[in-house]
Amino acid sequence: MRYFLTAFFILLGCYLIVNLVGFLEAHKLCISHAVLRPSKTSKNDVSRFVKQKGSYAKNVDPSSLSNTKNTKILFISDLHAEFCFIPAAKVIDTIRKANVDAVVFGGDICNDPLKHEVGTSYLFEIKKACDELHIPFLGTTGNHDVHLTKEEVLKSGFTDLRDGPVKVRDIIFSGVNDTGKKDRVWGDVSDIDNEGLTHVLISHNPDWLLDAASKSRLGNVDHMISGHIHGGQICLPFRLEIMVIRKDVLPRKRVINGVFDGAGVTFFIGRGIGCVLVPFRLFARPEITIVEFEK
Ligand SMILES: [Fe+2]
Repeated sequence: MRYFLTAFFILLGCYLIVNLVGFLEAHKLCISHAVLRPSKTSKNDVSRFVKQKGSYAKNVDPSSLSNTKNTKILFISDLHAEFCFIPAAKVIDTIRKANVDAVVFGGDICNDPLKHEVGTSYLFEIKKACDELHIPFLGTTGNHDVHLTKEEVLKSGFTDLRDGPVKVRDIIFSGVNDTGKKDRVWGDVSDIDNEGLTHVLISHNPDWLLDAASKSRLGNVDHMISGHIHGGQICLPFRLEIMVIRKDVLPRKRVINGVFDGAGVTFFIGRGIGCVLVPFRLFARPEITIVEFEK
C-alpha cells in the first residue's frame, strides 16, 4: 500500500508539473523571422522536402528588421481565441517595430463558433492598428472556421483572400479555403495573371501543396504560408502527437514548423498563437513571424 501511494503521488506530481509548464509555455510569445527565396526543387515533385535552416530564426528583435528593403509581412495564425493568452497589444507592438508592409492571418479564429466574437474582436484590434499604419490586413480561414458565416468572418476586419488576390508592393497574395477534416475539398488556387510578380498563397493547411501537386494544379504559386499544425502544440517523445492524433501528411514527413522547399514551392509553416482542445503548449511556444520575400 505504501509503495502504491508513493507511486501515485509521484505520478500526480509529474502530471501537475507538466500541466503547469504547458500552461506557462502557452503564455510566452516567440517572434520569428522567415525568409522565402525562389525554390530550387522541381514543380509537382513531392518526393522530398528540404528544410531551409538558414532561412528561419527564432526570438528575433523586430526592430532589427525594420529597414530591410524586401517586402515583408507579419504572419499570425491559429488564434483559437478562447485559448489564446498572447495579448493583441503584443502583436500590434511587433507590427509597429518591424515596419511590415502588410499583416496576414492564416485561419482558425476560434475553437467554438458560438464564441467567435472573442476571436473576431481580437483580430479587429489588429485591423485598427493596420489602418493607422496604412497597411493592408489580409487573411483566410481555417478548418475551425467552417461553421462561421461570411458575415461573422468579416467582423475580423481582414480582406478575405478567398474573394480574390491582393497586390502588396511586388507580391500578389491569394488564399484558399479549408473546408475542414470531414469531406475535405481542397480549394483551387486562383488562376491569376501575376504579371511577373511573386505569387504567395495563404493556405491554412500545408497539405494543400500535396493535393495541388498531385493534380499539377500549383499554377504560378512561388511561395505558400500556412499554420494548422501548431508545431505539434504538445510535443511528445517519438512525435506521438503527430503520429497518433493528427491525420495530416506533411507533419509525418517531419514538415512541421519552419521554412521548407518542395514541389517547386518554398513555404513557411508557423506554430500559431493559440491552443486547441487544451490550453497548453509544450516545446511549441506561440509564434508570430515576420516573413520576408527575397528575389
Ligand atoms: Fe489551428
